[in-house]
Amino acid sequence: MSLLSVENLDVRHGLLKAVRDVSFEVGEGEILALVGANGAGKTTLMRAIAGAHRPASGRVVFEGADVTAMPAHRRVRAGLALVPEGRRLFPDMTVEENLIVAGANGRRGGAWKVDTVLEAFPILKPLRFKRAATLSGGEQQACAIGRALMTNPRLLLLDEVSLGLSPIAVEGVYRSLHTLIDGGATIVLVEQDLARARKVAQRIICMLEGRMVLEGPADRLTSREITEAYFGLGRVQPKGAPA
Ligand SMILES: Nc1ncnc2c1ncn2[C@@H]1O[C@H](COP(=O)(O)OP(=O)(O)OP(=O)(O)O)[C@@H](O)[C@H]1O
Ligand SMILES: [Mg+2]
Repeated sequence: MSLLSVENLDVRHGLLKAVRDVSFEVGEGEILALVGANGAGKTTLMRAIAGAHRPASGRVVFEGADVTAMPAHRRVRAGLALVPEGRRLFPDMTVEENLIVAGANGRRGGAWKVDTVLEAFPILKPLRFKRAATLSGGEQQACAIGRALMTNPRLLLLDEVSLGLSPIAVEGVYRSLHTLIDGGATIVLVEQDLARARKVAQRIICMLEGRMVLEGPADRLTSREITEAYFGLGRVQPKGAPA
C-alpha cells in the first residue's frame, strides 16, 4: 500500500483551475520531485495535500485513510508535514522555541527532538537561542525543515527549499536533506532546479498549467524530456487534453 495517494485532484482559486485531474502515489521511503514552471500549480497541489487548501474534487488518501476533509492540524498529527514556500517561521521566537512549538502539534512518539534536529542541521546549533528573524535565508530554511521534523512526519512535503538562497546555502540544506533521505524519509519536494531534482529524487512529475504532463523514474527520463514537458514543447501533451 502506498503512503500517499492523490486521486483525480482538482483544486481551484476562484474560477481558476490551478490543479487539474492530478493523480499519483508515493511509496514509503520514496523521494518524489515535482517540477514545473511558475504558476504550474505545484504550491497549490502541496497545500491541498497538506490540508491548507480544500480541493474542488478528488481525494487525498494517506496511509489508507481518506483525509480529503481532514483539517490541516489533524493531518500534521497524522504525520503529514509541509515546509511551505517562504518558510513562515515565528520571527520573534528563537530557533529552539520555533522547534518546540512545532513539536507540540505533531505526531506523538517519534524520534525527533530539538537535539536530534540540531544534529541533522548543524548550522542551527550555534543559533539555538537566536531570534528567527535575525537568521540568514539558509538558516531560516534549515529551521523551517527542522520545525517540520519536530512533528515526526511520515511524509515530508518541501515546497522550494532552495528559493532565494545562495548556492552555498542550497548545498548546506541539501546536505542535511541527504542525511534524512539516507535515514529512510519519505519526501515530496518541489524543486525548480531540474538537474538537482533528477539527482535527489527517484521519481519526477512535471506539471504544466495544473496538469501532470510527465511522470517517470528520475534515472530514465532524459533532461530533454523533462525540459520539453516543463515548457510544454514537443510531443508532450497534457493528460486528458485533446490530441
Ligand atoms: N491564493 C491565490 N488566489 C488566486 N490565485 C492563486 C492563488 N495562489 C495561486 N494562484 C494561481 O494559481 C496558479 C498556480 O499557482 P501556484 O502557486 O500553485 O503555482 P506554482 O507552480 O507553485 O508556481 P511557483 O513556481 O511560482 O511557485 C497560478 O496561476 C497562480 O496565479
Ligand atoms: Mg510555488
